[in-house]
Amino acid sequence: MKNTVSTLLKQKQSGDKITMLTAYDYTTAKIMDECGVNAILIGDSLGMVMLGYENTLPVTMEDMIHHTAAVSRGAENAFVVADMPFMSYQVSVQEAVINAGRLIKEGGANAVKLEGGAEVCEQIRAIVNASIPVVAHLGLTPQSVNVFGGFKVQGKNIDNAKKLISDAVKIQEAGACAVVLEGIPAKLADIITKKLFIPTIGIGAGNGCDGQVLVYQDMLGLTTGHTPKFVKRFAEAGAVMRQGITDYISETKAGSFPAEEHTYAVDDEVISELMKEADVK
Ligand code: KIV
Repeated sequence: MKNTVSTLLKQKQSGDKITMLTAYDYTTAKIMDECGVNAILIGDSLGMVMLGYENTLPVTMEDMIHHTAAVSRGAENAFVVADMPFMSYQVSVQEAVINAGRLIKEGGANAVKLEGGAEVCEQIRAIVNASIPVVAHLGLTPQSVNVFGGFKVQGKNIDNAKKLISDAVKIQEAGACAVVLEGIPAKLADIITKKLFIPTIGIGAGNGCDGQVLVYQDMLGLTTGHTPKFVKRFAEAGAVMRQGITDYISETKAGSFPAEEHTYAVDDEVISELMKEADVK
């Protein structure tokens, strides 16, 4: 059954946790969809985990549309949410609506996600008025990395925490269908979750949220180096890939791959005639 804005809302009401993962390509999206994940996010994190940038800021609309279209083709039942990249919605409300529309029309997404609170409510209202569901994103919003001075947990002091609660209420009033809460204390996320009727989806925001989202390279153990505190590595797929690639290299160099079962046969008469003609022994 296709997950929709209504099914996600029902999940909040019944206490059935919403599962969301990022994906950026057809094959991964298809596996996640077959596993039964409720929602797939084409995050602008693709700038970091797929394109190797230092942060999400260089990601373009073309990048997002390209990857969103691939994911949409693999997601039969999951609700597909596409991130609006940096500077695709901040400049004007009109640009925000046009760009959100492109992610739906060209990318096949079911909803768009954008970062920010009170300052983006006008954009949220206009996009929703154009019949496009909007997922908001509050807390450690990566597109504000330069304002925060790094990827830092938000909402730890009273003013900042109050602002996040007030932003959450405002984005809900503006028409957002859900909100991602990233990098905030679990107890603050609990308060926001109880205050809102729309679902909260947490990442680094504790287990009181209505759902969870993780970047798949993190949760499958594909990333190396520092693992953020909020990430659980549910598998070590990176180690499996390394082993497979190492085996491929050594078997190819040793000549044991491809073996007979990996090759196509042809009748001996055909080959002898070809060898005669080509003058090969
Ligand atoms: O870009 C992304 O992957 C995200 C998630 C971390 C929520 O916004």
